[in-house]
Amino acid sequence: MTDVIRYPAEMSRIAGELRLRGNTIGFVPTMGALHEGHVSLIRRSVAENDVTVVSVFVNPTQFGPGEDYERYPRTLDDDVEICVQEGVDFVFAPQPDDMYPRSMTTWVEVGGDLVNRMCGLSRPGHFRGVATVCAKLFNIVRPHTAYFGQKDYQQYLVVRRLVEDLNFPMEIALVPVVREKDGLARSSRNRYLRPGERESALSLYRALTKARDAVLAGETDASALLALMASEIESAGAELDYAVVADPVTLEDKERVDGPVLLAVAAWVGDVRLIDNFLVDPPQ
Ligand code: PAF
Repeated sequence: MTDVIRYPAEMSRIAGELRLRGNTIGFVPTMGALHEGHVSLIRRSVAENDVTVVSVFVNPTQFGPGEDYERYPRTLDDDVEICVQEGVDFVFAPQPDDMYPRSMTTWVEVGGDLVNRMCGLSRPGHFRGVATVCAKLFNIVRPHTAYFGQKDYQQYLVVRRLVEDLNFPMEIALVPVVREKDGLARSSRNRYLRPGERESALSLYRALTKARDAVLAGETDASALLALMASEIESAGAELDYAVVADPVTLEDKERVDGPVLLAVAAWVGDVRLIDNFLVDPPQ
């Protein structure tokens, strides 16, 4: 049975009781509009824990002015249906006013270079919103493990840093990207794509595939890989936001590939911003 919980205080009470009874709690934080990517996180959590909580909350504080907060898809009934089918125990679906009462003045900001790169540059304040809502959700849900998708790899690193720096007694698990048959990474924002834009959207995957193949064939020059990714994306009519060849732990740019690397891209396809990445382990 899946219970839908609306209020933070109630979710908190339930989490406390579950912990007292010795249950392990797996947590999948989401903004709803659930797709196969979320389902893979949910399945991991259900398989590894006594109880699974999925939160569905379109977090206003991680959207910048002019971003898609208002039009972000809100499909709670469908989301609950998926959670029922997947054996989720609790869907936590709070309202913005209950998560952010007017009295609230505390924010969580992860510092350092992790947030000053990639999406942190094009979306100022985004990771402050993510870190703040995750800290609140972790305190409410009190999970043993929270599951994050690799598509948002930078977010995963930021949340891991938050958990370590603020001593949250929990693990963060990374779950691989789930793709459509043609390679497009599953994303709630894919539903904004118009039919003609899908081909352009696929250029992110193609760019990453070509760069990965080049690395596996022995290319070590990051600037050559960056040029390859940029040209694949731009020639498909998408507007490149960034392409990086980076250290998978620090996100520092690499000049040469001399070990495992993160290849990551972000691009605008019409008015839809998409991201994707590959973790690549080159032959030694
Ligand atoms: O990845 C997301 O959907 C969101 O950034 C998260 C982690 C649920 C925080 O709002």
